[in-house]
Amino acid sequence: MSYQQEYQRSIDHPEDFWRDKASTLAWFKQPQTILANDDNGIARWFVDGELNTCFLALDTHIENGRGDQLALIYDSPVTDSKRQYTYRELRDEVALFAGALAKLGVAKGDRVLVYMPMVPEAAIAMLACARLGAVHSVVFGGFAPGELKVRIDDAEPKVVVSASCGIEVQRVIPYKPMLDAAIDLAEHKPGNCIILQREQVQAELEPGRDLEWQQALEGVEPADCVPVLATDPLYILYTSGTTGAPKGIVRDNGGHAVALKYSMKAIYDINPGEVFWAASDVGWVVGHSYIVYAPLLAGCTSIFYEGKPVKTPDAGAFWRVISDYKVKAVFSAPTAFRAIKKEDPEGEMVRKYDLSCLKTLFLAGERLDPPTYEWLRDLFKLPVIDHWWQTETGWAIAANLTGVEAVPTKPGSATYPVPGYHVCILDEEGNELPRGEQGAISVKLPMPPGCLPTIWRDHSRYVNGYLKQFPGYYVSGDGGYFDEDGYLFVMGRTDDVINVAGHRLSTGELEEVVGSHAAVAECAVIGINDDLKGQIPVALLCLKDGVDKADADIEAEVVQLVRDTTGAVACLRQALVVKRLPKTRSGKILRAILHKIADGEEYKAPSTIDDPVVLQEVTELMSARKVGSFAKG
Ligand code: COA
Ligand code: AMP
Repeated sequence: MSYQQEYQRSIDHPEDFWRDKASTLAWFKQPQTILANDDNGIARWFVDGELNTCFLALDTHIENGRGDQLALIYDSPVTDSKRQYTYRELRDEVALFAGALAKLGVAKGDRVLVYMPMVPEAAIAMLACARLGAVHSVVFGGFAPGELKVRIDDAEPKVVVSASCGIEVQRVIPYKPMLDAAIDLAEHKPGNCIILQREQVQAELEPGRDLEWQQALEGVEPADCVPVLATDPLYILYTSGTTGAPKGIVRDNGGHAVALKYSMKAIYDINPGEVFWAASDVGWVVGHSYIVYAPLLAGCTSIFYEGKPVKTPDAGAFWRVISDYKVKAVFSAPTAFRAIKKEDPEGEMVRKYDLSCLKTLFLAGERLDPPTYEWLRDLFKLPVIDHWWQTETGWAIAANLTGVEAVPTKPGSATYPVPGYHVCILDEEGNELPRGEQGAISVKLPMPPGCLPTIWRDHSRYVNGYLKQFPGYYVSGDGGYFDEDGYLFVMGRTDDVINVAGHRLSTGELEEVVGSHAAVAECAVIGINDDLKGQIPVALLCLKDGVDKADADIEAEVVQLVRDTTGAVACLRQALVVKRLPKTRSGKILRAILHKIADGEEYKAPSTIDDPVVLQEVTELMSARKVGSFAKG
């Protein structure tokens, strides 16, 4: 079958297409109704189907003779340790941990928050929730108490699962004090916390509330899989919106399982029994989908890597893992490969390993810049596949379908829409644009299985944020165009979301934190281009009258405030006190122009500008402080 045939069938006959794909899963009750609207008027997939995602990820493979095959390989250069789990071993550990959660009162529909480093217990906790029909909400370990608190209050978890620490290269980061601080700040108090004690740090436990992982397992019976409806939630994953609190993307069970299983073959060309490695973190959607769920749903072996692309111990770390475990396809963010390229531009480390097992490199999380694409392509002489997706969709919207029909790639393009996604480029009035013209990348409804049906406890935010602007379409928030050959080029966000080292952050959220500093009257946070991380944020601060501290002290305090509240991953390393912020006469801060100034791009001040002198002042300050492109001279 050609890509075109596969894609066209998914658009012309979506129900037949997805019925076929769904039939390869071991449902408890096969769905009869493939697509129907829910009470909110949102199209939902497989509405009367019953299944259990953990059963499909583990038990079914054991029933089919894969019990002794490796399911998960944990490789941790930061602790110098390795561990492997067969499907049977993983199922047994998951069932027991599910029993421990059940003993603490966790049942179908309850939420469990998982705040863990890249240890296999994170996957065990996620799968245990799925086994019980409970809803997990994994919070990335790099987030600080402020971010954790917001998620605790929104998800209202019955239990939190965490670890005593994470390890960043050689730095041990205690997690438990951050968790305690977040729970102190939160209005909702979880009933229990289960803490994995790691040998690097012994966490202090609060009697009555906290249990050690092993203690939680004492006297526990393994739990069975609880049947859930296809439309029941599997997890909530928070992501940055334009402003305000992060939004809880809801993933259902049925559509997710069908889409992810399909994607393993269609997009990644991975067959049961083969080894797949997504070098990401379980705290991000890539980790949910392609470290944990998809490889297991497809009966593959997944690599669980606790380390960095560089410095653990060197720029050959990725190549060592690929060669040690015979990885067939690797998936990571461009920023990771830029970090490797910076340390090993000639690719000498690559030549130290036998990488004949590797067939394809997949990249996502941010635009794959052509220099990184070309470096990888020339070094490996293998397909280098950029594919575009979002937390909201849970799997790729555009990709090169290597398992259906691999087509030539084009630098800077994520290739073609994935089957199920009717991608259109819309102008400001919502009219479809022809090839070659840039606009809002949108998806004609219904979205395919696996995509979000709502925002957790805030359906109106889903409607207002994605569906209202152009009725009948999902608006992705990215801008781009199709070229004359139908290749999709994703050019960047059209809102306040920025992408820092593959991590999605909102300048609006960062402004809320910066603005909470007692000396700050108003502020603007802008994302500026960075050779390694793609983008990094910079804060411009206007101080309240009468502040008698030195500017440099306030700037340092703001940097620390963001680190303590949002986390080190925000990478806010520069804050600048300015006299005034450039605004329009109606008071709107000219963020886009500030961004252009920092990046050294041409700009035209709008006719509505309040005072053009302010732009001159800010430019001079950025130049003096070597912000963005001014650092390059
Ligand atoms: N727990 C605690 N702190 C964390 C953390 C975690 N899980 N992850 C990152 N941090 C900290 C880092 O230690 C660093 O702290 P520092 O400012 O004190 O040095 C800060 O957050 C910024 O982290 P990061 O942006 O990751 O920078 P880095 O210099 O440590 O590493 C890369 C740079 C490119 C190697 C790294 O960002 C990377 O591998 N990115 C890939 C991202 C990815 O996989 N994204 C998912 C989409 S596929
Ligand atoms: P996240 O939800 O964290 O996965 O971030 C999603 C956003 O990252 C998208 O909306 C894009 O802005 C960006 N993104 C992800 N993958 C790509 C890609 N392959 N090309 C361009 N942008 C991407």
